[in-house]
Amino acid sequence: MPVITCIEDLRLLARRRVPKMFYEYADSGAWTESTYRANESDFASIKLRQRVAVDIDNRSLVSTMVGQPVSMPIALAPVGLTGMQHADGEILAARAAAKAGVPFTLSTMSICSIEDVAENTDAPFWFQLYVMRDRDFITRLIERARAAQCPALVLTLDLQVMGQRHKDIRNGLSAPPKPTLANLVNLATKPRWCLGMLRTKRRTFRNIAGHAKGVDDLSSLSSWTNQQFDPTLDWDDVKWVRDQWQGKLILKGILDPEDIEPAIASGADALIVSNHGGRQLDGALSAIRALPAIAEAVRGRMEVHLDSGVRSGQDVIKALALGARAVHVGRAFVYGLGAMGEAGVTTALGILRKELDVTMGFCGLRDVKKVDRSILGARYVLSASRGAPRRGCRAGSRPARAGSPAPRRRPESRSRRAQGSRNSRRRSRRCSRSRRPRPPAAARAWPPRCAAARAPCAAIPAR
Ligand code: GLV
Repeated sequence: MPVITCIEDLRLLARRRVPKMFYEYADSGAWTESTYRANESDFASIKLRQRVAVDIDNRSLVSTMVGQPVSMPIALAPVGLTGMQHADGEILAARAAAKAGVPFTLSTMSICSIEDVAENTDAPFWFQLYVMRDRDFITRLIERARAAQCPALVLTLDLQVMGQRHKDIRNGLSAPPKPTLANLVNLATKPRWCLGMLRTKRRTFRNIAGHAKGVDDLSSLSSWTNQQFDPTLDWDDVKWVRDQWQGKLILKGILDPEDIEPAIASGADALIVSNHGGRQLDGALSAIRALPAIAEAVRGRMEVHLDSGVRSGQDVIKALALGARAVHVGRAFVYGLGAMGEAGVTTALGILRKELDVTMGFCGLRDVKKVDRSILGARYVLSASRGAPRRGCRAGSRPARAGSPAPRRRPESRSRRAQGSRNSRRRSRRCSRSRRPRPPAAARAWPPRCAAARAPCAAIPAR
């Protein structure tokens, strides 16, 4: 049994134990995966201030999310097909979350149904809703969530059409997997997974199977999404959902400050700054980069949460510092689930808790609710590199994949160098003509900083 020290260890174990199509379903982004990578690398580019000789005994991570007490400001995000990472995955993850004192969110596109999770767990869980063309079905889904006593509904707004994930196409993603030669060969190497699946009856989208009308091909996520998800969804529909649901309402997928006023007007209690883990709009800002401007635009009128890219307790504290009240983790718990079932989710949450706790201490704080921008000093921030590095570039986290050589810089030719210095002379002439000096490095840095003060500015520089 390998020693587990961080979420990356769980990822590597999950990659060994989960069938390729489901492991890659989780570990993928849309198209070139640039936003998927930026979600992680932008976190890595933010630096923390180390403080010393401050009393950091008796640290506390307790907080609240939409009024619900939590043992730390982390919720498990809704992840489609969680029950294909491990048999009965949603039930196991919900149990681990309850034991850890954090919310679990069940996806509409889960394998275990609302009723399955409610019958097999004690603690209340949150339910995530997609708006589909069949409004009767949506009304019934909301009723089912109410009957299961879910205290919060997470309404996803960024998946009315689906981003293309090349790996899913190549793998022929379906639940359950089709008995093709490639799948059978791969399944033969995953005996634990197969045994678990043989022992459960939960192998398809049980929130939908037997509940929705006119569903032709439920096994394929993308074809079902294309048929059923409603691309006409607008803010009136959000208000319609608000009217149907008396519990807490959380809007997921907000990335632009212009969407804040309608979000607040809809009557929702919280929003989640998210780009769906880089699985939808490839080229969108990373969630952590989008966060400061969103928090600024919200001005405390609703709770701001963040998901997308959180793989460590250090990431959690950075998100809190930049204005989030809490974060939601998807892959971080899914890797644990795929690696070791319920124990793996417990391990993942334990890792995040310890990293958050110890990091908070290093930053000289004792109470997670007091984390603010002062832990990110100007001198401790590196400007973002151009283009998100590929995985493996994040210090101490994801090691470079074996056999992938470091990218080599092409030697510059003499004419390119000459062209470069001509361009830089032109730039400096333009600058002195317009008397507009280049902004100081601090203003160009990521996260955005005030030149004089230590606190970051709200403006988001273009990448
Ligand atoms: C569903 O939420 C997906 O990203 O596949």
